[in-house]
Order: sequence, then structure tokens, then C-alpha cells
Amino acid sequence: MRRIAIVGSGYVGLVTGTCFSELGNRVVCVDNDAAKIERLDAGEVPFYEPSLGEMIARNVQARRLTFTTDVAAAVRGSEIIFIAVGTPMRADGHADLGAVRAAARDIGAALNGPKIVVSKSTVPVETGEMVSSIIRRHARAQHPISVVSNPEFLREGSAVADFLRPDRIVLGTEDAAAEQVMRELYAPLEAPIVVTDVRTAEMIKYAANAFLATKISFINEIANICELLDVDVRAVCNGIGYDQRIGTKFLNPGIGYGGSCFPKDVRALEQLAVERDYQAPLLHAVELVNRRQIERTVVRLERELGGLRGRVVAVLGLAFKPNTDDVRDAPALALIARLLDRGAAVRAHDPIANALAREALGTDGIVFCDDMYESVSGADAIVLATEWNEFRALDFARCAASMRGSVLIDGRNVFDPDKVRAAGLRYLGIGRVKLPDQLDAAERK
Ligand SMILES: NC(=O)c1ccc[n+]([C@@H]2O[C@H](COP(=O)([O-])OP(=O)(O)OC[C@H]3O[C@@H](n4cnc5c(N)ncnc54)[C@H](O)[C@@H]3O)[C@@H](O)[C@H]2O)c1
Repeated sequence: MRRIAIVGSGYVGLVTGTCFSELGNRVVCVDNDAAKIERLDAGEVPFYEPSLGEMIARNVQARRLTFTTDVAAAVRGSEIIFIAVGTPMRADGHADLGAVRAAARDIGAALNGPKIVVSKSTVPVETGEMVSSIIRRHARAQHPISVVSNPEFLREGSAVADFLRPDRIVLGTEDAAAEQVMRELYAPLEAPIVVTDVRTAEMIKYAANAFLATKISFINEIANICELLDVDVRAVCNGIGYDQRIGTKFLNPGIGYGGSCFPKDVRALEQLAVERDYQAPLLHAVELVNRRQIERTVVRLERELGGLRGRVVAVLGLAFKPNTDDVRDAPALALIARLLDRGAAVRAHDPIANALAREALGTDGIVFCDDMYESVSGADAIVLATEWNEFRALDFARCAASMRGSVLIDGRNVFDPDKVRAAGLRYLGIGRVKLPDQLDAAERK
């Protein structure tokens, strides 16, 4: 049993803290957002994450898990302190390390003995050294501290399962004693452990996310080319996916990636390179292709509907992916903003994320609907932006009967085009059919 403090109780910190308490440790989750801590103390989970609520309740009941805004008390009472605060994107593309610095200052000021400080936040190479020096600078008395980088690879929507069954655990440390403590902490998970120095561990996280984002932009680019050649990209994915060097995972063409990680991490890695005079053209292109997927969808709608002014578009799915309420950098939100800019009205529905999307977008030009059929009613077009399971069972005939128009853009390639067409709707997937003007050109030949 270890005494652990988690500074930052968001998607990563709360899952990390809860899972470590589930493994038998005594954990205090800290956040400077008092409202969040109040909700946790009242037994509420401040965001949607499957199975997290039950696990929190169980461990609170067993007195292994507590919540506080008092970072100093949490630090003083713990041997291991995780930093899991946000590292959002600054306007210039760099990672904003303000919260990491603040956490390091608070940890330093409260230091009362030897500690292992673990960075779980995704941070640029060299941040570990920065955290270490901030802590030392703010410590009233010098105590041995060891800063370990332990990047997190969980996915929102399956975060608890991912945390408890990781593909690997990365530990960046050159301190043998700290390594031993961390190995013991993670031992119950029986996962491969990769030990590196701190800088390498920091780089591993960026490289992993950049690779995954690259895979998405790659298959989106292939899909866009397939459209020009009247080739179905899904068959292409199948054909290349059997090659074990390629694999089938993360080869799903769509309207692009989003969320709180890929967009900012690709940009932050690019900036790390650029400030060292390497332009990182591939990372740049990954991001560009991703942004264009949204623009392509808008252009498609514009063509299909003969302009967007006065048109009504139903957007199904607002979270950046299914099974989360996280709308940070969600493709659906970027799409809606562009549609509104061009004069369309939007009827939006998400099973979980309506409230957060409303907070992010406001209500000008948007009606948030509690039901998917309510959002489709009176629409000229539907765009499926996030592939929640409930959308897979969409009754196309019911949609067709209540819509004003007949266009369905399947932004995640989940529908059967024949079934959509049988209901009298016009199906447009990603990389599955030629664009209408290209069809016209082909027919004229
Ligand atoms: N969300 C993911 O799926 C995911 C996956 C892997 C890694 N990460 C990384 O983990 C980090 C955290 O991400 P997140 O999605 O959990 O962020 P988040 O915004 O959900 O949570 C961060 C929390 O930290 C709190 N906080 C900020 N400054 C603080 C301070 N000084 N003291 C105490 N609390 C403070 C905020 O109030 C917030 O509750 C980021 O670096 C992110 O890139 C995220």
C-alpha cells in the first residue's frame, strides 16, 4: 500500500487515482476546481466515463480514495505525487505548461520529506527537468525528490479498462530506487514495463500520438483519392490491413480526429521541432489533412444543398468520439462552427455531450435536441459526426419521412449505403462514392 496524491483530477487524474485506489493504495485526488471536488465529495462523477462511477464509490466507501482542494496537505501526506493537470495548446501551437508549473510550485512549497513526483501529463521533452528545478526552488527545506515521467496512454470512453490493462507502461527515470517503487506500484497490472530516461519517456508519448494521428490522416487522404477514382476505401483498408506491418486498427476514414490529445500533441511536437530549426513537414501535413476533412464535408453539403444559407443541417454526435462527453477539439464542433458561418442552421444531438457542446458553442443558430429523430426533423441534410452505437440503428425511413431534404453524410462510414438509399435518402460516405460533380464529368465522357 502506497500513499499517493494526484494533482489534477480530470479525465486522466481521476481515472489514475481511482484505479490506484482499486489496487489497494491510499489515494487523495486534488483539484483546484472547488466545484469539481464538491461534486466528487457528493458522490457525483464530474464527467462521463463508463464504469468510473462505481469504482469511485467502492473505493470512497473503503476509505482508500478521498478528494481535496488542499494540495499542500495532499503532498505532505503522500510518498508519490502524480501531476495530471491539463497541458492545452497555446495559440502558437506550443503546449501550455502553466498548470504544470503551478503544480510543481505547490508541490515544492509543501515538501516535507523525500518524494517521488510523477509526470502523467503529456509534456514536451525537458519538462521533467523544469519540474524538478521548480520544486527545488520552492522547497523551504531540501529533501530528496525524484521526478519520473510516466506518460498515460488511456483512451477516453474505455479509460478504466485501458488503465488496468495497458499495452505497456513507460517509466522515464534514472533513479533505481524510484524505478523500483514505480515497478511495484504497477506490478498488479502485469504489463510490460519500458524504462528509459525522462526525456525519452516524454518523447515516447508524443511519438505515439503523432503516429496514431498520422494513421488517421493517411487513411483519410487515401479515402479522398479513392473518391476521385471510384474505389471503395473500405475494401482498400481490408486489403492492406491484413499486412501485419500495417494492421487493421485506426484505419477508419472519417471527418477527422479531434479530442483533447491528438490535435494539440501533433502541434506541440511540430513546435518542438520547429524551434530547433526542423520543419517537421509530415506532422504539418497530418494536421493539414485533418483540418481539410472538415472543410471537405462543408463543401460537400454546400454542393448537395445548393448553398448553405437558410439550410438546416442535423449533426448527430458532438463528443469527439463515442462513450465520452469530451467535446474539446471535437470535429463536430468545428463542422458546426463552419456551417453557422455560412448561414446554415444546425439541429444537434449527442446522447451525453449536449450540455458541454452548448457551453462551447452557445445557442446562436443551433438547436440542441434530446433525441436523434427530433434533430433530424425538418433538416435538409444529416451529418453523422460521431459513431455512437445508438446512431447505428438509425431508422432511415423515419428520418426520410420527417426531413425537408434527403442528404445523409456518413462521416464515420458506419451505415449501409443500400439501406440508406432504399429509404429514399442520398448517401455520401467518406471514400465510398464519387463526388457528384466528378460523377457528372465521368458520365459526360
Ligand atoms: N484525456 C485523455 O484522454 C488523455 C490521455 C492521455 C494523456 N492525457 C494528458 O493528461 C493530461 C491531463 O489531461 P486531462 O484530459 O485529464 O485534462 P483535464 O482538463 O480533464 O484535467 C485537468 C485537471 O487539472 C486541474 N488543474 C489544473 N491546474 C491545477 C493545479 N495547479 N492544481 C490542481 N489541479 C489543477 C483542472 O481543474 C482539471 O480538473 C494532459 O497533459 C493530457 O494531454 C490525456
